[in-house]
Amino acid sequence: MDVLRQRLAAIATLDAPALEAEEIAVLGRKQGVLTHQLKEVAALPLEEKRVRGAALNALKIEFEAAFAARRAALAAATATAAAHATDRSMPGRRAWPGSLHPVTVVIDDIVAIFRELGFAVALGPEIENDERNFTALNFPPDHPALDMHDTLFVAPIAGATTDERLLMRTHTSPVQIRVMREGPPPFRVVIPGVAYRNDPFDASHAPAFSQIEGLAVDEGISFVDLKATLTHFAERFFGASVKVRFRPSFFPFTEPSAEMDVSCTICGGTGCGACKGTGWMEILGCGMVHEQVLRNCGIDPERFTGFAFGMGPQRMTMVRYGVPDIRLLYGGDMRFLAQFGGVRA
Ligand code: PHE
Repeated sequence: MDVLRQRLAAIATLDAPALEAEEIAVLGRKQGVLTHQLKEVAALPLEEKRVRGAALNALKIEFEAAFAARRAALAAATATAAAHATDRSMPGRRAWPGSLHPVTVVIDDIVAIFRELGFAVALGPEIENDERNFTALNFPPDHPALDMHDTLFVAPIAGATTDERLLMRTHTSPVQIRVMREGPPPFRVVIPGVAYRNDPFDASHAPAFSQIEGLAVDEGISFVDLKATLTHFAERFFGASVKVRFRPSFFPFTEPSAEMDVSCTICGGTGCGACKGTGWMEILGCGMVHEQVLRNCGIDPERFTGFAFGMGPQRMTMVRYGVPDIRLLYGGDMRFLAQFGGVRA
């Protein structure tokens, strides 16, 4: 009986095949140890038969209960394991692939079009001095054009010279000066970069914004080259059906100066809310490099002429895709950005 009691206690530790074998070994009708002992009871004297028979029957009931309990426990464990198992048929989580920001796509596209025309890329620092940002570009110290550039100065030094006075460049045009002072013409460069103005952040202004500057200086360059180059650019960037027009304008560093408009990309030129009913959208400033600017860079204006232009990639992005508010381009909202999905080739 003691041996059987030990086996009874051990049932709770058995796995499924061992449980089945043990059940047969104890309760099996032919070989079961307990069955066998119960059969032997019949041969005992009456009094012993009663006592031992009752004890063995009670034990049999305990065994039956133990086997049933263990079987239930094993079944429950299997069910839990199945519930936690990896489901290899489950679809994976949707991966969110990265993509280029629409402004980056636009900068890449603009630079690529000018590269095809033989323009190289030049870069310059975002902290400039007053001399290259204004003076060399022919801004007189008290010129009202300086009002157009609400400048962010870096640690203003009282009595500093224009060479010493540092500022956040208000346009990419000082890189024209750097390029022209670096070596003899010809130059054909585009200059992508960030510029800063102390502007409020509203639907059409941002205090930090991109620009792409262009500069071509060589013998015999005329306004015809400017118009042909920028018209070709607009047709490549907006599509062959785009119309362009040049309006007279003013910049201290170009003479003559112009602003270029393209036919409204939303209404095609008939007039809508996006173009304020005019049918046109302004996209860039341009002009022939001012003689004084060439001289400021040691270039002989009798021999060399050139044209320059400057455009804003955020503005170009808004015009190309009909984005109504520049702040959308700074927000990082995936619902907005995922509509563009640019991938660098
Ligand atoms: N620098 C001018 C601006 O920021 C743009 C420009 C560049 C105009 C080159 C003419 C020539 O507004």
